[in-house]
Amino acid sequence: MPTPGAENVVLVGFMGTGKSSVGRILARRLRLRLIDVDDLIERTEGRRISEIFAADGEPHFRRLEKEAIRRASAEKGAVITTGGGAVVDPENLGALRATGRIISLQATPETVYQRVRSSKHRPLLANKPDLLEEVRRLMAARAPYYQQADAQVRTDGRTPLQVAREIEGLLRGGRR
Ligand code: S3P
Repeated sequence: MPTPGAENVVLVGFMGTGKSSVGRILARRLRLRLIDVDDLIERTEGRRISEIFAADGEPHFRRLEKEAIRRASAEKGAVITTGGGAVVDPENLGALRATGRIISLQATPETVYQRVRSSKHRPLLANKPDLLEEVRRLMAARAPYYQQADAQVRTDGRTPLQVAREIEGLLRGGRR
């Protein structure tokens, strides 16, 4: 993988691909700090992402997200997990690329649907009459951004530990 000398590991990918659970395990195993960008936003703002969307709208959330990514990218020795829309913004992608290796977690729309269908805290997927169709549509629109990562890892039917181990192999430069 490219980006020699980079110190952080960045997980990107669609909602429900397992970034947070894989990130927690990976950080523990690699003895790195975990910086979850959505958590950082919530702690800085003192309110949930869903409240930010409801009160101030998505454009405001994206500004907060950009600031949080800028702060996270300045850190060293961390696993950084991002929200599903983070890499759509080229500045965010540039900051993340400069700070570490970017691993994209992938899952089929059907897997994501199963994982997010009962979630109450994902405003972009709330109240959709056809949730699976919405996941398909948004995932297809974002695919070109996720493909810009240094590596892609599938998560369908795999545990977070299995996914974390594959990422460790990639980081060591080995094969799966
Ligand atoms: C979003 C994904 C969410 C969160 C926000 C917007 C997106 O994070 O950042 O609701 O645009 O895909 P997760 O991917 O962790 O659910």
